[in-house]
Amino acid sequence: MTANSLNILITGAAGGMCEGINSRLAQAGHHIICLDLDLDRSEAAALKIREQGGKATAFAADVCDEQAVATLHQQIRDHIGAVQVLVNAAGILDRKYLKDSDAQSFRRAIDINLVGPFVMIKEFSEDMLQAGWGRIVNIASIAGTTGYPYPSYAASKAGLANLTRSLLEDFWGTGLTVNNICPGVVDTPMVIDSVRQQVRRRVPTGNIIDPAEIGGLVNFLISDDAKNINGTNMLIDGGATQLFSLFNNHED
Ligand SMILES: NC(=O)c1ccc[n+]([C@@H]2O[C@H](COP(=O)([O-])OP(=O)(O)OC[C@H]3O[C@@H](n4cnc5c(N)ncnc54)[C@H](O)[C@@H]3O)[C@@H](O)[C@H]2O)c1
Repeated sequence: MTANSLNILITGAAGGMCEGINSRLAQAGHHIICLDLDLDRSEAAALKIREQGGKATAFAADVCDEQAVATLHQQIRDHIGAVQVLVNAAGILDRKYLKDSDAQSFRRAIDINLVGPFVMIKEFSEDMLQAGWGRIVNIASIAGTTGYPYPSYAASKAGLANLTRSLLEDFWGTGLTVNNICPGVVDTPMVIDSVRQQVRRRVPTGNIIDPAEIGGLVNFLISDDAKNINGTNMLIDGGATQLFSLFNNHED
């Protein structure tokens, strides 16, 4: 079953990639529940959706804070109702090599990128389990499937991939699916200029990904056509991680 209008909770909704996710899902007629750390930024994201003719409501909470997330759940129940779809997009990229890093900054990345989705899934899967239907989509990264220069980011996103697989046992036969999307370089403020320049040389399609493409993939994963896609890490990276590029002929 896919109802016409779903209540879709999106974390990190004020961020660059979510602009594409929010508008794509709102265009499909869903109610977007925008969650970010700061209410003004969540509200700005929700306003943008409403200006485009969509339905959106803003909330603020830290996804790592179990108590704040429990309170948020009660607020959403009171004002909107049950959540049918959760998109975990909140995340940070701490550009620190091992030599510049320390346990505190490493823990922060693990907290936001991995503990946050865990807390959100634990809390909001309750609604889905009660309804006997639900969709969870985590925004991971290709950095979690390959190595990456910034260990805290790579480790947190790899953990997210294995968290996703491990939930299949809990959600066995419940009507819930849980999947990861692993983007390559997406056109957002998170991406620095030098990386943009590398895309043309190192990505087989040569493209930076439009955030709306991530929205399109989320929209597919919550549709009936995707009801048997479960526990996957879906790459959207222009082929970057599939190409063994030691003998890359396309260097400048
Ligand atoms: N931009 C890319 O190229 C790219 C590539 C692969 C994966 N990703 C992943 O996609 C997701 C979105 O990335 P983006 O580029 O939009 O980043 P962004 O920095 O623009 O947005 C992230 C959002 O998450 C929010 N956030 C951070 N910590 C939070 C917390 N504790 N609680 C609630 N909200 C919190 C921030 O306020 C921000 O609005 C991230 O998980 C990122 O790791 C991004």
